[in-house]
Amino acid sequence: MSRIAAVLGVGPGLGRALALKFAKEGMKVALMSRSLDKLEPVEKDIKEKYNGEAFSIPTDAGSEPSVKNAYDKIVEKWGAAPELFVFNAGSFTPGGILETSLEQFEKNLHINCTSAFIALKQVRSI
Ligand SMILES: NC(=O)c1ccc[n+]([C@@H]2O[C@H](COP(=O)([O-])OP(=O)(O)OC[C@H]3O[C@@H](n4cnc5c(N)ncnc54)[C@H](OP(=O)(O)O)[C@@H]3O)[C@@H](O)[C@H]2O)c1
Repeated sequence: MSRIAAVLGVGPGLGRALALKFAKEGMKVALMSRSLDKLEPVEKDIKEKYNGEAFSIPTDAGSEPSVKNAYDKIVEKWGAAPELFVFNAGSFTPGGILETSLEQFEKNLHINCTSAFIALKQVRSI
């Protein structure tokens, strides 16, 4: 077991909570989402609260090359694949069919479904 966790979709909510929990359990944690400014405060919290190891990697879950690059960076940095990979990236648009545009629906579909498929392909070797 590598004791490495990866969380894709780290913002202020569930992703952050999971990342902190893994760090508390003594795991190294790779933090991924598109914006570094959402990742850095979580990395700081992990270091300050648990003296833990965290690594922020700006990643677009909707892009296979971006997710592959992030996964490769984790292996390169810590020398092993994560034993735990959480796919938490997502978007939710409140409202029913009549209030939701096709464009928004397709965006949600891409991040909530296609991106999960992309992420799963990367963790095939775990
Ligand atoms: N919190 C709840 O109680 C709850 C309950 C039920 C369902 N959910 C669902 O669970 C998911 C996560 O919830 P959460 O509370 O952790 O939300 P959150 O704090 O908003 O975190 C989700 C993160 O996903 C990232 N993300 C979105 N699109 C992305 C992309 N293309 N590539 C990489 N990262 C992306 C966003 O960061 P960037 O924009 O920086 O990329 C965001 O910070 C959401 O879909 C939410 O609707 C949450």
